[in-house]
Amino acid sequence: MALIFDRYKDRLATLPKERGWMTENLYMYQGYWHQSMRRISVENVMAVQDTFKARPTDIYLATLPKSGTTWLKALVFAMVNRNRYKCKPLSTDHPLLVSNPHNCVPFIETKVFINMPTYADAHSPRIFATHIPYTSLPQSILDSSCRIVYLCRNPKDVLVSMFHFANKLREKSCSPLTFEETFELFSKGVMPMGPYWDHVKGYHEFSLECSENVLFLTYEDMKRDATNNVKRLAKFLGCPFTKEEEVNGVVQGIIELCSFENLREVNKQGNVFEGIPNNVFFREGNVGDWTNHLTDEMSQILDQITQEKFQGLDISF
Ligand code: A3P
Repeated sequence: MALIFDRYKDRLATLPKERGWMTENLYMYQGYWHQSMRRISVENVMAVQDTFKARPTDIYLATLPKSGTTWLKALVFAMVNRNRYKCKPLSTDHPLLVSNPHNCVPFIETKVFINMPTYADAHSPRIFATHIPYTSLPQSILDSSCRIVYLCRNPKDVLVSMFHFANKLREKSCSPLTFEETFELFSKGVMPMGPYWDHVKGYHEFSLECSENVLFLTYEDMKRDATNNVKRLAKFLGCPFTKEEEVNGVVQGIIELCSFENLREVNKQGNVFEGIPNNVFFREGNVGDWTNHLTDEMSQILDQITQEKFQGLDISF
């Protein structure tokens, strides 16, 4: 294991660098900016590319950081496991009543899944998350015809959310980032797993090519109409709600359990991983908080980039 990581460390030294958000540097690997020396790092991405074994029954939840990953993890975990852990009436032992969704649905790009046999024994379907861009996904995922759900969010809200998140978790040795600095970095495409636009576009095109296997959702649409999106998700994942479940309020039970207010309350204390508090994943949970942070000029610049990059694509927020 150590030897494998030494190999990736050697590769890291050859990659272009930029200023980091949470760590000192970001590294350009296969067209995207990655962190090193964190739980989710470029070395881990390289390692999963080499070692990760997908199964056709797997479910992957793909996102850019700050796009609603935690929410999507909770919803899919609750929906897929609803026979084991009832959502209506709610089982008192439901894992989401005591655990952060990040502990229920792991990222593949963490060391746990590299050369470890244990994950092979997990329940089926296995549910994983990833921030890895489509073009860098492990080949076994692309070859396995498993289901992938991609959730994207308005770039301006991603920027604002990431700004707050990064400053809370920024390494002590680095001075805090101003909003202007993060705006500059974001506009240049420099954010963990960015450029934002390329990440979204990659998965959007993938969803058009493989609509049976890839579902493309937006945070804004989920907020607007959680009921229909949750039903759509369940159908896509091969576990549609029965009429009886709908009448009995199971869909609403899942939505309530996974609501921002409920998850924030459960995750008020403790750490999700070492040094990362549970509560850092629950800030405002609203659409449009960017209006409180961006100047008109900043907003226009991002609108223009988005218009250019997403030209001809059916993506709206
Ligand atoms: P804000 O910072 O705008 O509040 P991620 O999970 O990808 O890290 O994204 C975090 C963002 O999703 C944060 O946005 C967070 O508040 C919001 N969020 C977390 N849980 C949510 C939920 N259950 N419903 C809606 N938004 C949620």
